[in-house]
Amino acid sequence: IYRFPLELVHGIPLMKPIINRWQEVEQFQARPDDLLIATYPKAGTTWMQEIVDLILQDGDLEKAMRAPSHIRFPFMEFVTPTLPSGVEVLTKMPSPRLIKTHLPYQLVPTSFWNQNCKVIYVARNAKDNAVSFYWFDKMNKAQPDPGTWESYVEAFLQGKVGWGSWFDHVIGWWEAKDKHRILYMLYEDIKEDPKREILKVMRFLGKELSEEVLEKVVHHTSFQAMKENPMTNYSTVPSFMFDRATSMFMRKGEVGDWVNHFTDSQSKAYDKVYNEKMRGTGLKFRSLI
Ligand code: A3P
Repeated sequence: IYRFPLELVHGIPLMKPIINRWQEVEQFQARPDDLLIATYPKAGTTWMQEIVDLILQDGDLEKAMRAPSHIRFPFMEFVTPTLPSGVEVLTKMPSPRLIKTHLPYQLVPTSFWNQNCKVIYVARNAKDNAVSFYWFDKMNKAQPDPGTWESYVEAFLQGKVGWGSWFDHVIGWWEAKDKHRILYMLYEDIKEDPKREILKVMRFLGKELSEEVLEKVVHHTSFQAMKENPMTNYSTVPSFMFDRATSMFMRKGEVGDWVNHFTDSQSKAYDKVYNEKMRGTGLKFRSLI
């Protein structure tokens, strides 16, 4: 019903309502014990949020699942004409706050760095990320209309989608990771060995969990468990916003689903840009060929 158009702020396309109140985001006051989860949209944000919350709650499902994901992790740059903004919600939230953002590194409010906050960044390979974003834009009525898959693939590659270029986003955060307390995670790694990756998050958060509790976290954050859990599957979002007949929020949760969407020439076009942009960065994604 909304289908907000995109406009540029500091060269990054964002939905118009966010741009209208950009100053609020820019001047956001971080607190030292804030934990920020940053991602390009559809890279596995919700997954990481649940991993983090379960670790912080020592694997206690009832405590972790006290409210839907988007309530426990307010979306910092969220603005619609009717609901309180992300900044308004966060300003009233008691510490320690769990915060979600999709902003590229250079647009994150500087107070996060002044306060030396911890950040967990999750990146997902470009092609699966594009597929997931396409279906999300189709089902989420606040997002711009993605148009056909053919036109979307092109727009994504050129960075003409919400939150800008995937390439610039993952590289920007990659280059920032050693300057701050940033844990850089890959969706494909978590899929491959959730326990190994959850342990990394646990150490980053300074928590010690027993083997038994760790197994619980692995279990409750599996795709199947999260798809069935009303606190994590976004089923509480009204259907005039999320058109579930088109796609579910917990859509497939797989690595390599892009092969079912990309043509050979679309895939080659991605590989070309990928090879150019990633050269010399040391950042590598799997599931590209
Ligand atoms: P798909 O559309 O490929 O299924 P975000 O939370 O950043 O919006 O990302 C959503 C994507 O992460 C969706 O991808 C969703 O299915 C996937 N996802 C969510 N929870 C997951 C989990 N526990 N395991 C694997 N993928 C998960």
